[in-house]
Amino acid sequence: MSIIKVKNVTKRFNDKLVLDNINYEVKEGEIFGFIGPNGAGKSTLINIMTGLLTPDSGTIEVCGYDILKEPIKAKKCIGYVPQELALMEELNALTNLEFFGALYGLKGKLLKERIEEVLKITGLEEKKNKK
Ligand SMILES: Nc1ncnc2c1ncn2[C@@H]1O[C@H](COP(=O)(O)OP(=O)(O)OP(=O)(O)O)[C@@H](O)[C@H]1O
Ligand SMILES: [Mg+2]
Repeated sequence: MSIIKVKNVTKRFNDKLVLDNINYEVKEGEIFGFIGPNGAGKSTLINIMTGLLTPDSGTIEVCGYDILKEPIKAKKCIGYVPQELALMEELNALTNLEFFGALYGLKGKLLKERIEEVLKITGLEEKKNKK
């Protein structure tokens, strides 16, 4: 099964053609990387795939859901790890875990258990109240 399907995606900024009819599929269990020089359009494509930008034409399916037609369902299937540190620096470790756990739909006892587990794995139990 393909978890990502990119079909005929085209994007222009003003008159500049940035993505020219991009097509690919990524199957479940596959590790797929795309590389290219600065300005090649990698970030533009990632933004389109995650529903942050709309393509001029073409479609994207994530886990079988069209990112534009069923964005919530498609986005539930996406885990995005940006280049920058993906933490709220003004919050302590515990609150960060509560926040990100909640984004993934965890709450109550399960959220608490998972936070304890993660603090243990990372050796941060003693530092959970530190930023
Ligand atoms: N919002 C925007 N408005 C106008 N042009 C843009 C916009 N975003 C990106 N571009 C242009 O689109 C092209 C592709 O940019 P993009 O950021 O997708 O490239 P990239 O492959 O991620 O580059 P890098 O390796 O530097 O991160 C570049 O020419 C860039 O200047
Ligand atoms: Mg980029």
